[in-house]
Amino acid sequence: MNLFDASLTVNLAGISLANPLIAASGCYGYGFDYRRWIDPGDWGAIVVKGTTLRPRTGNPPPRLVETPSGMLNAIGLQNPGIDFFLKSIRPQLPELQCPVLVNIAGETLEEYRQLAAILNSVTEVSGIEVNISCPNVKRGGVSFGGDPALVEELIGLVREVYRLPLIVKLSPDAGNIVSVAEAAWRAGADALSLINTIKGMVIDVQKRRPVLGNITGGLSGPAIRPVAVRAVWEVSAAVSIPVIGMGGIMQADDALEFILAGACAVAIGTANFINPAVAREISQGLRQYLCDHGFSHYRELIGAARP
Ligand SMILES: Cc1cc2nc3c(=O)[nH]c(=O)nc-3n(C[C@H](O)[C@H](O)[C@H](O)COP(=O)(O)O)c2cc1C
Repeated sequence: MNLFDASLTVNLAGISLANPLIAASGCYGYGFDYRRWIDPGDWGAIVVKGTTLRPRTGNPPPRLVETPSGMLNAIGLQNPGIDFFLKSIRPQLPELQCPVLVNIAGETLEEYRQLAAILNSVTEVSGIEVNISCPNVKRGGVSFGGDPALVEELIGLVREVYRLPLIVKLSPDAGNIVSVAEAAWRAGADALSLINTIKGMVIDVQKRRPVLGNITGGLSGPAIRPVAVRAVWEVSAAVSIPVIGMGGIMQADDALEFILAGACAVAIGTANFINPAVAREISQGLRQYLCDHGFSHYRELIGAARP
């Protein structure tokens, strides 16, 4: 089989992607800044930074610190808000030439509902990712995502007003991620994204103080990959909607781990900070793997590690 015969296309909850690689929320801005290094069309889709009803200034600095095999961030959902997105970002989205999803976050159920209602009429946006798993905000985020009953209520409210693909983003910090996944599925989610960062902290022993201004932050990168693969394995066995796997994907073999565990697509976050061409390299690596092992479509590998 020829390398280019190996197919990476996927229909993810009704969205057609050229490949299963998605730029993870918060790690790719609005997709425009990376254009000098990579064609945004190398991605299957781009998820933009967590967007809130009102602009947010985020947490006090320092907000990032490198850790063994990863990094800790406490951005605190800094973003210019939905009005800025509609006025300044929306008109440019067609230039990206791949589907764009908006990650939404609220401090109350009503804020999530309002954001979803606004985005329901934005045709340039292919779907929303509901972030109920941010570890770096005091209200909303993972404090909502840990309670299956609350998740079912929240996603039910969003579902009532949002007709396009609705993805829910989960965290293992939520406790029982499978129960939360099932609650989101029952409430009408079309797909699930997992995992968000895991809460952690780093202390500067010279200053004898926490390094981050927020004290704690979210751990991402290869350090969390085994936790994420396990979460995808368990959740994809429990629900019948597609799972998007993420957490420490740096190269094609990492993406394959998630696919073999049951992910229909994968998202890449931290790797973008050190290798802006990561999407192109991983899609080439996936094609090479399919070719070397005699598969014509990566679909044949989804969940294939299951005995
Ligand atoms: C700097 C930074 C900002 C992030 N911002 C968001 C965000 O706004 N919304 C969200 O759902 N996830 C956010 N995330 C989590 C990532 O989308 C992703 O779930 C997580 O980092 C695991 O993937 P990775 O190890 O490939 O980075 C952020 C991660 C980082 C590192």
